[in-house]
Amino acid sequence: DPQALLVFAIGYLLGSIPFGLILTRLFGKGDLRAIGSGNIGATNVLRTGSKGLAAATLILDALKGTVAVLVAHHHFPGFEHLAAAGALIGHLYPVWLKFMGGKGVATFLGILIFLLPIAAAVYAAVWVLLLLTIRISSVAGMAAAISAPVTAAVLGREQFSSAPALFPMLLGFALLVVWKHRTNIARLRAGTEPRIGKGKGD
Ligand code: G3P
Repeated sequence: DPQALLVFAIGYLLGSIPFGLILTRLFGKGDLRAIGSGNIGATNVLRTGSKGLAAATLILDALKGTVAVLVAHHHFPGFEHLAAAGALIGHLYPVWLKFMGGKGVATFLGILIFLLPIAAAVYAAVWVLLLLTIRISSVAGMAAAISAPVTAAVLGREQFSSAPALFPMLLGFALLVVWKHRTNIARLRAGTEPRIGKGKGD
C-alpha cells in the first residue's frame, strides 16, 4: 500500500530530526555524542549543564511524535499507528546519524498523547514519579515505556477502535526502547549508572 508507506515515511522523517544534537550544536555545547552517555536525548543534554536546552529537547522530541500522529490523523485517517511507528523508528534509527539515534522515551510519550491519551497520562506519571524518587533517567524511562502496553492491555479492546493492533504495537515500542537502553542496563547491573543532578557525564 503506497499510502501506508508514505505515512510511515512522513513519520520517519519527523522522528529522525535529532533535536538534542541540533540544539546543543546551535548553542555551542560541542558534539553531544562526545559527552556523558553519548546519547542524543534530553538526559544527556542536561549533562552539558543546560536545563533549558534539555527541556527544549524533551519537548521537541516528544512533539515530533505527536505531530506525526496528528498529520496522519488529518490527512490519512486510519493510518495513525503507522505514523507513530515511523516517528519512533526514525528517532531510534535516523539515517542521517548512521542509524545511531536516541532511546525513544520522549518520542514514545509524544506518540501516545493522541493515540491513547490515558496511556500517555500513566506514562508521564510513572516517568515523573520515578525521576523524582529513584533519580535514574534510564530506569524511569524504561518503566514508563513498559507502562504503555500494560495500560493498553488493562483498558481492554474498546479502546482500540482507531488502531486494531495497538497493544502489540505498543509492546513492540516498549521492547525497542528497552533494547536501546542496553548499555544503561549494563551500567545499572555494574552499579555505575549515574543519577540525575549528580555531576556531569557517566
Ligand atoms: O531517554 C534516555 C534516558 O533514558 C537515558 O539517557 O543519556 O542516561 O543514556 P542516558
